[in-house]
Amino acid sequence: MSSAVEAALSAALKAIAGAKDLDDLKAVKIAHVGDKSELGKASQSLGKLPPEERAEFGKVVGAAKGAVASAYETRQQELELERDARVLIEERVDVTLPYQGSLKGGLHPLTILTNEISDLFIGLGYRVAEGPELESEWLNFDALNIPVDHPARTMQDTFFVEPLAARLVLRTHTSPVQIRTMLENEPPIYVICPGRTYRADELDATHTPVFSQVEGLVVDRGITMADLKGTLDYFARSMFGPDVKTRLRPSFFPFTEPSAEVDFFFNGRWVEWGGCGMVNPKVLQACGIDTEEFSGFAFGMGLERTLMVKHGITDMHDIVEGDIRFSQAFGTGSR
Ligand code: DAH
Repeated sequence: MSSAVEAALSAALKAIAGAKDLDDLKAVKIAHVGDKSELGKASQSLGKLPPEERAEFGKVVGAAKGAVASAYETRQQELELERDARVLIEERVDVTLPYQGSLKGGLHPLTILTNEISDLFIGLGYRVAEGPELESEWLNFDALNIPVDHPARTMQDTFFVEPLAARLVLRTHTSPVQIRTMLENEPPIYVICPGRTYRADELDATHTPVFSQVEGLVVDRGITMADLKGTLDYFARSMFGPDVKTRLRPSFFPFTEPSAEVDFFFNGRWVEWGGCGMVNPKVLQACGIDTEEFSGFAFGMGLERTLMVKHGITDMHDIVEGDIRFSQAFGTGSR
């Protein structure tokens, strides 16, 4: 009997010593220590033995089980240490390796410019006004004194939106926001309106059917062309540097009288910037403003043109297409 226990004991010790890892060791426990193992069965058989044999055999079985338990524990500790050491090597992280982090997003250069211009005019006491991009034909043209037979009102230049009877257009300029502002507010009025505008142009190096403008409108007592010129000078210097010069050239817009084109002198040449003038009294009156008491000036210029000259961008595609290599210079893509 006891030689069977001895054989079971040495088989168990051998298996424990041979366990390669903790999983292995667990299997060894089931096979050599569990109820169905040789030692387990010997334990269970104790009860069936006559009392005089039981004490003696009990000691043998007990000693064998004790030896297995302590060998098991020792091996378990060894294998745990081995596992911990292995995990430290296998799961090591080299924090000095270069990594492929995600790129930081950035504002589109046009948005950055719009924010700059807004801040500039807010600093002068202006408010930022807004209007819808889908605009009534009346506000986009009629209220601005643009006659029904004006060439800009053809399908060729303007996106009319169906159903045509609704008389809605994608606004062709930000000037309708002037009307909205004057209809909703009493003078004094000092607003700028940066926003998106639409014209039926092909996308090329200098044109895009979706573009942006910034409109300015001032209505107050005693406003003159000198205020307009001074404001445009300040605006131009803030955009292009302290030495930039501006000039006004006589022009025509139905909603201003007199009207002018504003140019600025930059990098040795005159650049056309936008339109401006004194708000036509007809427009003021249509908005319920007393022209005996109030006068005003307005201006409107393209933001893409401003951005292109400011940063030496030569192709409109760069502004429109969203290629990250272009916007990286403006902060997109840094980590
Ligand atoms: N709305 C004009 C355009 O898109 C630009 C313009 C000219 C705006 C004169 C004005 C202005 O406010 O006074 O061509």
